[in-house]
Amino acid sequence: MGRDWKYIVGFATAVCLVCSVIVAGSAVGLRELQDTNKVLDRQKKVLIVAGLLAEDAQVSADEVQRLFKENVRPRVVDLATGQYDDKTDAAAFDQQKALKDPSASHKAESPEARAAGIQRLPNKALVFEIVAGKDIEMVILPIEGKGLWSTLYGYLAVGRDGNTIRGITFYQHGETPGLGGEVDNPKWKALWPGRKAYDAEGHAAIGVIKGQAPGAAEAPHKVDGLSGATITSNGVTKLVRFWLGDGGFGKFLAGFRKGERA
Ligand SMILES: Cc1cc2nc3c(=O)[nH]c(=O)nc-3n(C[C@H](O)[C@H](O)[C@H](O)COP(=O)(O)O)c2cc1C
Repeated sequence: MGRDWKYIVGFATAVCLVCSVIVAGSAVGLRELQDTNKVLDRQKKVLIVAGLLAEDAQVSADEVQRLFKENVRPRVVDLATGQYDDKTDAAAFDQQKALKDPSASHKAESPEARAAGIQRLPNKALVFEIVAGKDIEMVILPIEGKGLWSTLYGYLAVGRDGNTIRGITFYQHGETPGLGGEVDNPKWKALWPGRKAYDAEGHAAIGVIKGQAPGAAEAPHKVDGLSGATITSNGVTKLVRFWLGDGGFGKFLAGFRKGERA
């Protein structure tokens, strides 16, 4: 009996030990692959929001990287001045990491940031220029902010006029599928291109309304609401307006509107 007991405990301990080594080993071993896939997924989202890749396209990793290399120029922007910071290597810049670094980020104090559920802001941000030859066609801005249940992370594409929306996409959120999760619906995303970010006074005006909006020509600043998901819809309005405003990319985009960057 005594020996049986020792054998059972010894055996269970050995099994636990072996399993934990396997689990820890695979977690460490797979991390690099996960990181690579994350980068690839972001690159794909940038290409999709720029209209360079179809939403449901089945493309290889090599093809994504080729398209990205040929058409996309990542650059770092100083949010306070709205100027490019080409001394910082954009290829190595990690905006989410900067957010966790007190020397590279600061507390978000403005009412607009608070309304968008943003607690901290990076001093510098990573944008993606879509280039055709020597010309910049559009610029893709990272955006984030609160919905109902979660922080939504995505990209907003703005034309070289610094005003016309070219696309929107979210690559990460925890809103309810079928309700707030409809931010991923291609039909809803298709309502954004062609609308205008700013009103005549230069204020960020684009927003998601409750119900249906007319076409872009009649309602340049309005996008259909997500039905049954007014809280997520309002969250999208607040976060998009924040990033278009002076606390976000407002100064940077003003440079495009003045024709300083094209
Ligand atoms: C299980 C559950 C999940 C919900 N998920 C969302 C959501 O993701 N986004 C959202 O805005 N509202 C969500 N709602 C609804 C909100 O509670 C709220 O009723 C809604 O935002 C109001 O929008 P409406 O005026 O368009 O109906 C959810 C409700 C329930 C019961």
